[in-house]
Amino acid sequence: MKPVIYITRKIPDDILQPYQDSFDFRMWDKEETPVPRDVLLSEAASADGVLCLLTEAIDKEFLAAAKHLKIVANMAVGYDNIDVEAAREHGVVVTNTPDVLTETTADLAFALLMATARRIVEANDYIRDDKWEYWSPYLLAGSDIHGKKIGIVGMGRIGEAVARRAKGFDMSILYHNRSRKVKAEQELGAVYCEFTELMKEADFVVSLIPLTEETKEMFNEQAFQNMKSSAVFINVSRGATVDEQALHDALTANTIRAAGLDVFNQEPISAEHPLMKLDNVVCLPHIGSASVATRTKMLELCLDNLKEVLNGAQAMTPVN
Ligand code: DGY
Repeated sequence: MKPVIYITRKIPDDILQPYQDSFDFRMWDKEETPVPRDVLLSEAASADGVLCLLTEAIDKEFLAAAKHLKIVANMAVGYDNIDVEAAREHGVVVTNTPDVLTETTADLAFALLMATARRIVEANDYIRDDKWEYWSPYLLAGSDIHGKKIGIVGMGRIGEAVARRAKGFDMSILYHNRSRKVKAEQELGAVYCEFTELMKEADFVVSLIPLTEETKEMFNEQAFQNMKSSAVFINVSRGATVDEQALHDALTANTIRAAGLDVFNQEPISAEHPLMKLDNVVCLPHIGSASVATRTKMLELCLDNLKEVLNGAQAMTPVN
């Protein structure tokens, strides 16, 4: 009997094709809707491996139901949806998808920074709403990007890729991270800063920090108070690193100028969310790594990890 792999969302058949001989694939058959919890738990019971998304909570209840499970391959670099410690106790390997999404996510972070700084979405809506009558000196004038100071919070692979883009824009680079990044300091001139100092100095604060107990609501009222009133906040990591009420207050009180957000505390957010009502916020539906090529590489990396582990080899990108 072939090992059973359960995939929690419909993915294209041609991606599965090269693995069909080795595994018995079962799959939730909807592309846009997450698998209901009861279906996930009952499928987990017979699975040797699971390919899941960040929409699934892989917690103690799931692990208790998944009696034969050897590996959970998460299609994301972040894995805060998984209780990694409980997985370890159950002898389940957890893998993520680092590297393959680094440059694509950095592209998006920089696109969001530029769109927010130069008010691209507002400007687009201005024409669509038929408001454009005359050219005028300060019509939709935003902030410069070139020559400004970027402050990167979370200088992992994606942080460094954002820093490389910032260097191309002649920006000076500050960063805050658990450990010093000597290579980025030498090659990009990045300067290490304490968090508070970075928040005070940067014209653009870019959050790329993973969500952990320590980073939960790290961007709180005090952090926003520390920012310049002309500064822009960009979040491409996890929504829960931000106190969204404090961010909303900072944006409405002009404590900071604008925000670009790819991630939210509760996803999906609705159009009725208070942040969506603000002109100085650009919101995206968590599309950091969403290029067709990168999403395909992420799926392939998940499948390769499943294949290795279910064949008794080491995972390629384990997190535990
Ligand atoms: C990740 O990989 O963690 C992203 O947030 C999903 O693309």
